[in-house]
Amino acid sequence: MTEQISHKLCVAPMMQYTDMHDRYLLRLISKKVFLYTEMIATGSLIFGECYDQLEFNSEEHPVGVQLGGSDINDLVECSKKCEQYGYDEINLNVGCPSNRVQKGSFGACLMLKPELVKDCLGNMQNAVKIPVSIKCRLGIDDNESYEFLYNFISIVKESGINIFIIHARNGILSGLSPRQNRMIPPLKYDYVYKLKKDFPELEIIINGGIKTLEESHNHLEKVDGVMIGRAAYDNPFMLKNIETEFYNESSVVDSKKEILNIYLEYVERKLLDGHDLGRMMKHLFGLSRGDKYAKSFRIKILEIIKSNCLTIDNKKDLEKLLVY
Ligand SMILES: Cc1cc2nc3c(=O)[nH]c(=O)nc-3n(C[C@H](O)[C@H](O)[C@H](O)COP(=O)(O)O)c2cc1C
Repeated sequence: MTEQISHKLCVAPMMQYTDMHDRYLLRLISKKVFLYTEMIATGSLIFGECYDQLEFNSEEHPVGVQLGGSDINDLVECSKKCEQYGYDEINLNVGCPSNRVQKGSFGACLMLKPELVKDCLGNMQNAVKIPVSIKCRLGIDDNESYEFLYNFISIVKESGINIFIIHARNGILSGLSPRQNRMIPPLKYDYVYKLKKDFPELEIIINGGIKTLEESHNHLEKVDGVMIGRAAYDNPFMLKNIETEFYNESSVVDSKKEILNIYLEYVERKLLDGHDLGRMMKHLFGLSRGDKYAKSFRIKILEIIKSNCLTIDNKKDLEKLLVY
């Protein structure tokens, strides 16, 4: 089953955003888009014994889990656990520039240690049957040349992994916040295109600043897959035409109102299991994006979160505020 999974269109891992509830919502909109969890640090799984972080809904497939770490034994142990939980792929984060992550010696700073990354990925891949992938940057700090990236990939690919997700800008380890690191370093898509030319055998997925399916079509002429982050979170309905546009499959996507109702039924079920209403409702903010009553829709959601109560009237009001 895993071999048939396509990375043509993926939604990026985003902390505090792409949790299991958001992924459930996204899956209502696109059956094929590949989803990833937020980054989960190996330390919090092993030492915090927080394996419930790995919980996901069976509807989410295909879904990959993203791990953050650099200790080979810990990564192997967590990879095995992730496979047992039923994930379709394990991704290693080599792109996060936050101070906290740097202190743990993982994330983007690993771009300076390609041999270690190779060993981590090779051991992870040997420990599980599902594919292991990497998400990395073009380079780190002032290592801005294509040669730096070429050298990094040449070494890492010796691990035997085949799926490379490249956030097409450098990571700056000091002086820029994670948010600035997603905006200030310039996007260099041409580096990623060249990588595909130099390593045609690898599955190369491009990420960073991609906002529409039309832009995705253009990238797909040069690489194997496109990963969209913020644009998909801010406007999840943008994913609705993926099946027809990218897979030649006819798909009947429900209207926004129907998606809302299915999601609210899900929310009600999850409330019974003790999940937090606010965490689940906030993912709906983007559903009304571009609509006439978008602002009132968002205000209504805020009211529901504040009152911590989802009533029948609330649900009706929300539905009325969606245009279709
Ligand atoms: C709120 C937020 C949280 C993020 N968390 C992660 C993460 O956990 N792991 C990761 O690899 N990248 C993370 N990223 C980076 C995204 O995966 C992506 O690489 C970046 O946003 C660029 O893509 P975009 O321009 O399509 O948003 C995060 C981005 C945002 C906005």
